[in-house]
Amino acid sequence: MESKSIILSIALISCFFMIALADPTINYIGANDNGVSHFPVYQGLKMHIRCYANPNTSMSNGPVALFDAGLPFSSLVFANVLIELLPTISTMNISRACVFDRYGYGWSDPAPYPFMSTEFVYRLHGSLNAASIQSPYIMVGWSWGSVDIQNYALQYMNEVVGLLTIDGTDSAYAFDPKNAPGLAGATAAIEQLLQLLPTGAVEGMLANIPLEFGYIPSNPLGCAFPIEAQTANNQWWMTEKNLNTALQEVQIMIPSTSLLNQTYESMNTATPLSNIPLVVMTADSNGEYWILRQNVLASLSSKSYHIHDNTSSHFIPIQNPAGIVSALQTLLTYVDQHQPIIVI
Ligand SMILES: *[C@@H]1O[C@H](CO)[C@@H](O)[C@H](O)[C@H]1NC(C)=O
Ligand SMILES: *[C@@H]1O[C@H](CO)[C@@H](O)[C@H](O)[C@H]1NC(C)=O
Ligand SMILES: *[C@@H]1O[C@H](CO)[C@@H](O)[C@H](O)[C@H]1NC(C)=O
Ligand SMILES: *[C@@H]1O[C@H](CO)[C@@H](O)[C@H](O)[C@H]1NC(C)=O
Repeated sequence: MESKSIILSIALISCFFMIALADPTINYIGANDNGVSHFPVYQGLKMHIRCYANPNTSMSNGPVALFDAGLPFSSLVFANVLIELLPTISTMNISRACVFDRYGYGWSDPAPYPFMSTEFVYRLHGSLNAASIQSPYIMVGWSWGSVDIQNYALQYMNEVVGLLTIDGTDSAYAFDPKNAPGLAGATAAIEQLLQLLPTGAVEGMLANIPLEFGYIPSNPLGCAFPIEAQTANNQWWMTEKNLNTALQEVQIMIPSTSLLNQTYESMNTATPLSNIPLVVMTADSNGEYWILRQNVLASLSSKSYHIHDNTSSHFIPIQNPAGIVSALQTLLTYVDQHQPIIVI
């Protein structure tokens, strides 16, 4: 009798934990991962959005911080940022931090055709509503994610209270003459990986795949990275869905940035992002021309602040997650209307 009731209580306790840990199969950062995954379906496509709630109930009216990754990465690339952010989130006025997978990456459905950034943003908006993740938003975009968050701010300006771009792609990308040949090379390489995938030959090439292609090795760039996110990232990476998605996205980079540039220019104002608080974080190691363009990006809002990261490469979310959390804290001082606004 006694052993039976012990077994019953163990069963009840594990039931309780099954409910508390909403997604036992999805884990980015290990034992402390208390994220909740949402799978809204909007216009026929499922999007994965994973949120980490602020345990401090005084912050429950704060904006939602949304993180958009670089190309061709899923939201798993933000694992180190979550590890830095979650222990300090209770001091920050954000109600939850959410990462999401663009279509075709991670746990999101693939897109039926390449989506321009403007179409992605329209669908992100619908997906957030479908998941009842309400504005106001602070939008954080690393690399390509920066194009999406600029478009989101232009399309839904009243929903966005702050923008943080992390070595973000700018609208002059379309006119940088080295980008078209670079994208042609990337396309050829991804097509080759797609051909080799069914043969198993890709397994033997993993040590030589540059990080730019989205495969995450152990200790990427000499940094710690959680095994949970690394394993999930690499399982997704080795799929046709992922490689086809990378091919699709590579196709829309120049058209999407060209359109964003036209949109900005046609607005005929020095500050098309109005006075939305904007923090631009730049990896200075990418050179003078890049820094000049990042200065232009920082000029698009009348309330902006430019942070230089002089030690990281483009992979700031992996190499300097503490710098990103600090940049988010800086942004929050602008977002809070009660703080004096410093215009730089
Ligand atoms: C957090 O932000 C919300 C929305 O902007 C605001 O209403 C609230 O007063 C802020 N809370 C704190 C503690 O700053
Ligand atoms: C929760 O938020 C309040 C209001 O900003 C703050 O005073 C308090 O220190 C926060 N608590 C923790 C544990 O960070
Ligand atoms: C648009 O592209 C041109 C050409 O590269 C560039 O000089 C300009 O700064 C871009 N506009 C914006 C708003 O970034
Ligand atoms: C980082 O680089 C910027 C611009 O190149 C420079 O103004 C700044 O002083 C540098 N910061 C550090 C800490 O070296």
